[in-house]
Amino acid sequence: MKVLVVGGGGREHALVWKIARSPRVDKIYCAPGNPGIAELAECVTPGDGSVGALAEFACENDIDLTVVGPEAPLVAGIVDEFKGRGLAIFGPTRAAARLESSKAFAKDFMARHNIPTAGHSTFARLEDALRFIDTFDGFEAGRPLVVKADGLAAGKGVIIAENRRDAAAAVRSIMAERAFGAAGDRVVIEEFLEGEEVTILAFTDGATVVPMVPSQDHKRLMEGDEGPNTGGMGAYAPVPAVTEPVRRRVLNEILEPTVHGMAGEGTPYVGVIYAGLMLTADGPRVLEFNARFGDPEAQAVLPILETDLVSIMEAVLAGRLASIDINWRRGSAACVVMVSGGYPGHYETGKEITGLDQLKDLDGVVAFHAGTRLAGGRLVTAGGRVLGITALGDRVSDAVARAYEACEKVRFEGAYYRRDIGWRAGKNTHL
Ligand code: AMP
Ligand code: GLY
Repeated sequence: MKVLVVGGGGREHALVWKIARSPRVDKIYCAPGNPGIAELAECVTPGDGSVGALAEFACENDIDLTVVGPEAPLVAGIVDEFKGRGLAIFGPTRAAARLESSKAFAKDFMARHNIPTAGHSTFARLEDALRFIDTFDGFEAGRPLVVKADGLAAGKGVIIAENRRDAAAAVRSIMAERAFGAAGDRVVIEEFLEGEEVTILAFTDGATVVPMVPSQDHKRLMEGDEGPNTGGMGAYAPVPAVTEPVRRRVLNEILEPTVHGMAGEGTPYVGVIYAGLMLTADGPRVLEFNARFGDPEAQAVLPILETDLVSIMEAVLAGRLASIDINWRRGSAACVVMVSGGYPGHYETGKEITGLDQLKDLDGVVAFHAGTRLAGGRLVTAGGRVLGITALGDRVSDAVARAYEACEKVRFEGAYYRRDIGWRAGKNTHL
């Protein structure tokens, strides 16, 4: 069969890499792809890149299955467009993707369905948000407030405010100064949750939910989780903090009620659901939902998925997820993200990348490309997150050590990566 993958970052490279291992697949296209993906798929840029142009491409090229990586095309309605033309596509509809595209929708939905999450209020008027902050009495007791732009803000629209002044400034920057554009039409203000943050991705056909192995992102730029938030500096899977009882609670109290609630409201959710969770002293709480695989979580989770991904996706689309087995390899995977110097602020691109050829001989190591491009036959940097180096190992610490061994062989001017990926797993010394 022929598969089209939409996107061109590290997550999409991991998707293409896994799909390429499927015995069912003869040909993969990727729009737009990147030089790493180009080793496994034909990279294409149909028309103006709109969902209509992609659907046109899928029709003309007899694509049997389209897989969507990033949120933007989902929120633009790519699944609705493809389904309208009778094309098979893996991902939620635009209405279902509101779980990611509107924090206010997601919070109200969770309240309606008793899904555990931080207490919140939503405001459409600046004055009302400021009045709420004025009367909030938790700052003195050391309880921050979390201020979030309602809409998509590339992971940057969340501000943790320790005091009244910072909270008011956050609301003003979102609603008055429009720091995140239309995402700031409304703000969600919520209580601050303490605990360890984990990601649980799950496959769902709209009725059955099958969680993948838990993973953990590292959002902050610097070691020890310091510095500014980024798109994600590394990930590993599985996560020791997610014990079997925790996993069961997440499935029973969060994932299943969410999927069943979406179906009950007439907007069934089909595809991969991403639950960003805080493991608090009172149990798991939802921080956010995303409507897709995580990046870089996918680069750690997909390499330890044993079952053919294409067969899983077909079962999801046929509504028969309950009838298949999904198996995971023993052991762990870790992905270390190498970024351009200066990221997530200003950085330069066009720096030559060397050493990747040496990784080909390392067993259980894969270099996923994110921000790379070819310039005159040389591979150069083309983005903030440049590469995700994934390695497998028996334990998290083995996988991490092997990923670092590989990172040391890769060079580009200004390259930076965190040296402590997986540190939370290491707190449990027996692992
Ligand atoms: P979000 O995009 O909603 O996941 O928020 C981005 C990041 O902000 C999360 O990954 C958390 O690290 C942090 N965060 C969001 N909401 C909360 C909360 N209620 N309490 C503590 N931290 C939060
Ligand atoms: N790793 C965070 C995300 O994919 O949104």
